[in-house]
Amino acid sequence: MPLASRHLLGLEGMSKNDIQLILDTATSFREVLERPIKKVPTLQGKTIVNLFFESSTRTRTSFELAERRLSADVVNFSAESSSVRKGETLKDTARNIEMMKIDMVVMRHAAAGAAHFLSNVIGANIINAGDGAHEHPTQALLDMYTIREKFGKLEGLNVCIIGDIAHSRVALSNIYGLKTMGVTVSVCGPKTLIPKEIERLGVDVFYRVEDAIKVVDVLNVLRIQLERQNRPYFPSLREYRQYFGITRERLDKAERPITILHPGPVNRDVELSADVADSEHSLILQQVLNGVAVRMAVLYLLGTGK
Ligand code: CP
Repeated sequence: MPLASRHLLGLEGMSKNDIQLILDTATSFREVLERPIKKVPTLQGKTIVNLFFESSTRTRTSFELAERRLSADVVNFSAESSSVRKGETLKDTARNIEMMKIDMVVMRHAAAGAAHFLSNVIGANIINAGDGAHEHPTQALLDMYTIREKFGKLEGLNVCIIGDIAHSRVALSNIYGLKTMGVTVSVCGPKTLIPKEIERLGVDVFYRVEDAIKVVDVLNVLRIQLERQNRPYFPSLREYRQYFGITRERLDKAERPITILHPGPVNRDVELSADVADSEHSLILQQVLNGVAVRMAVLYLLGTGK
């Protein structure tokens, strides 16, 4: 069965079957990435535009690599060097690009809902590469892929997302996706960075990292997004680290080994101590590798309608 939607706008409402299909398809592409020639002709003749209105290292590079490894023609668009700086709207930008006969758009934008908006104004397949503090579906898919690769399953695991939940698109997509896959999900952080009524999404809330560490298999550690915080949410980074930083000392007190994920970029020695980021607990670089395979899977499934 093909995916239910011709766009990937978010994981809210995505079925277990569709998530499973993407993760299983990604496994085939992970194998392609181990070959001497890491390229397949699957999207030959398709043109994909990467529209990035916000900065990115991992997502942008990962999508571009995934597109090239599928033999698509790739066009990169950066807001800083475009006519957006002269006041052109998102709708006009996208409609002009669409007239050049493109098939798919991968977009990152600072506004929540931007990818959804785009899917209503142009005919190409739209993939949301992060919209404001709303969703970042391919990040959550690669996080789930990495957890499943490590544990051989998702159902029955216990995952806590810790940090700046209020400003995080990664948190929301992970909550939707993990819950659908039967994972027990919690969030942890200072009260000021936990949205009110988040329990309504079916997650537990911890305000002390020590309590979370007692019960979890995986900690998905989020970056403190100072650029999205328009007022102070905690007294200082030093105090944030003291109360919520994931350190070797804290992990050593856990009853079982805890796996660490982080979507990046990491604020070393703030939310995650540098030695833990580079330790046997950490799957951070594995996430980056798996991200290419997961994005190949999404592009393939949407681009071919399979
Ligand atoms: N994880 C993530 O979205 O990283 P970038 O902002 O570097 O793309």
